Amino acid sequence: MSNKTAAAEPEKTHTEQQEKPQGAPRKKRILSGIQSTGVPHIGNYLGAMRHWVAEQDMYDNIFCVVDLHAITVPQHQNPKELHANTRNMVAMLLAIGLDPEKAPVFVQSHISAHAELAWMLGCVSSLGWLNRMHQFKSKAGEDRENATAGLYTYPVLMAADILLYDTNLVPVGDDQRQHIELTRDIVLRFNEHFGKTFVLPEALIREHGARIMSLTDPERKMSKSEPDGAISMLDTPTQIKKKYARAVTDSQTSIVFDLERKGLYNLLSIYQSFTDKSAAEIEEHFAGKGYKELKSELTDLTVAVFEPFQRKYNEYIGDKATLEHLIAAAADKVRPRADATLKRAQKAMGLG
Ligand code: AMP
Ligand code: TRP
Repeated sequence: MSNKTAAAEPEKTHTEQQEKPQGAPRKKRILSGIQSTGVPHIGNYLGAMRHWVAEQDMYDNIFCVVDLHAITVPQHQNPKELHANTRNMVAMLLAIGLDPEKAPVFVQSHISAHAELAWMLGCVSSLGWLNRMHQFKSKAGEDRENATAGLYTYPVLMAADILLYDTNLVPVGDDQRQHIELTRDIVLRFNEHFGKTFVLPEALIREHGARIMSLTDPERKMSKSEPDGAISMLDTPTQIKKKYARAVTDSQTSIVFDLERKGLYNLLSIYQSFTDKSAAEIEEHFAGKGYKELKSELTDLTVAVFEPFQRKYNEYIGDKATLEHLIAAAADKVRPRADATLKRAQKAMGLG
């Protein structure tokens, strides 16, 4: 796969030209997604979600809870659980401060264009491209024969999510970099073959917090499927304290950013993401102090950020009617754009 052509922005698509108000600079469109596979953790929050909230005035935003992606692995094919997890994830995104007026949060399966465009994009994606995807390799593990076809084509569905909304920037954690490169390859191939149809998106990956590691195994990415190594956004103060207390460190004593000391480095990265302080400031702050102080400060920081979110989250969960209304309104808001892009792509391909 190439991303050398990355810098070349394609000409404006038909939709973009139509929608740009006269004289007003159009805000860049950002779109991101999160799977409804369980409660999000500090990795999701620091790597992605907090930026979505902090920057919602800067961009034209769309967020998507990707339930069609969640079902790519059999453990998330429990219908009741999936349905509840999808609602819970929307509630959490609203609880952290996404404003439905500025940043609609819709459910992927409510917009049928995602699955339709994914099929079309799958027909311009090479097997060779998909064979290189790290996430498939790590999620399929040793037992590849039993991995689902959906897991294999997961990145093509993600490309459809992004392209349906003429997205410019995709704010994600570092693990999604390769999927966005694939999306770009799909755009370049499609536009070259069928004419300028899609906007070429770019990944927006931050320097800090884009890859938070497991607290129990700092060689592995923190993940929803390993709750012991992850601090969930619904953990109680006692659970948070316990998880930091058990976090793997080493037998040295100085508190410094040292990539070789992976456990400590991860804890310091979390600290840095929460405080936005420089590495030098943090090292100075902890000079002469030990892991106990670091872990205790981390506990306080995390509890202070998550407690208000948890209160709001419980309010949304306790008011199902409002939540369902917001979910339906978000789908109604984004559907016309998705349908227009799908039509454009169908026409370009000669379908229908
Ligand atoms: P997922 O839960 O896999 O749908 O991920 C949702 C968002 O969180 C994506 O932008 C991921 O890149 C990001 N993310 C997931 N795990 C981590 C992690 N350990 N560190 C930083 N970002 C993460
Ligand atoms: N694959 C992403 C993840 O696991 C989730 C996702 C699905 C996504 N569609 C997207 C992220 C579109 C950004 C844009 O985290």
